[in-house]
Amino acid sequence: MSRQRVWVSRPLFDDIIERLHEFFEVEAETADRVWTAGEVAAKVRDMHGAVLGVADPLNAAAVVQAPRLRAVANVAVGYDNLDVAALTAAGVIATNTPDVLNEAVADFAWALLLATARRVSEGERFVRAGRWREPSYRLLLGAEVHGRTLGILGMGRIGQAIARRASGFAMPVIYHNRSRLDARLERECNAGYVSRDELLVRADFLVLVLPLSTATRHSIAAGELARMKRSAVLVNIARGGIVDDAALVHALNSGTIAAAGLDVFENEPALHPALAALDNVVLTPHIASASVDTRRAMTALAVENLIAALGCGPHAGRPPNMLNPEVLARLREH
Ligand code: DGY
Repeated sequence: MSRQRVWVSRPLFDDIIERLHEFFEVEAETADRVWTAGEVAAKVRDMHGAVLGVADPLNAAAVVQAPRLRAVANVAVGYDNLDVAALTAAGVIATNTPDVLNEAVADFAWALLLATARRVSEGERFVRAGRWREPSYRLLLGAEVHGRTLGILGMGRIGQAIARRASGFAMPVIYHNRSRLDARLERECNAGYVSRDELLVRADFLVLVLPLSTATRHSIAAGELARMKRSAVLVNIARGGIVDDAALVHALNSGTIAAAGLDVFENEPALHPALAALDNVVLTPHIASASVDTRRAMTALAVENLIAALGCGPHAGRPPNMLNPEVLARLREH
């Protein structure tokens, strides 16, 4: 019997991807690049499975054109690149990699928050450019972090991990989420639930940890930025598109808010042209989960998900992180 075929859209970790070769015929890309939806469609057309990166769009047309496709494993907790409804309708299992990245992403949210408040990137540019010629007590004065109010929009497990770290900085934490945490978790995170508007108005640091969907697109646009403190710092480690980048550029230029730390962008890897010229932003290339251990754990989980979803390995038929369990239920019925 011929082996099932799987496509791996990006170079990941060879020793982990190796496991796919035990079960499948594997076509693994050896270079990173931007894949258009049409190119992804062409790649998966004859595949039974695919391991995809968060920037690799799999849309409804691709699903329709791929009659053999049975499973798609995203190497990310977010899955806005997948048309899950189309995959579900076609009986294709979709999986993601939750939890293994919570702590690394929370660490990075703090790194970006601190770097933005304390002007770390500006300082680095200043020193490297040879502009540090005399001592000065007024050089690159930044914002106080400890004791200020941390606001978190989106209080899933990553938001909670960010909140837990705030006690070391003696920061009160307020949050808004679709559903309020239970009392035990609120106590554990030392976080108080507030309305979305109160969050915008009170936060000194506002960290975004929302998934991107049609409902959350441009959650932070001109109106929201105008509600924030002029001294506020916005941190986005969630998804580009949650923030209206044009409105943010305007807010940063006009002093509506003080600064922003951004790991994600509306049209990444392309930047809004004005962002790179601003000094009051810290820009990083979507690396919040990019520690060695975490990226390896995400890859390993995606590989296990795919193996199981394609009916192989120790969890055959029971992938640990299904986004559309109704597909399995339907398969069992038949
Ligand atoms: C995720 O897991 O969604 C991250 O953004 C990918 O690094």
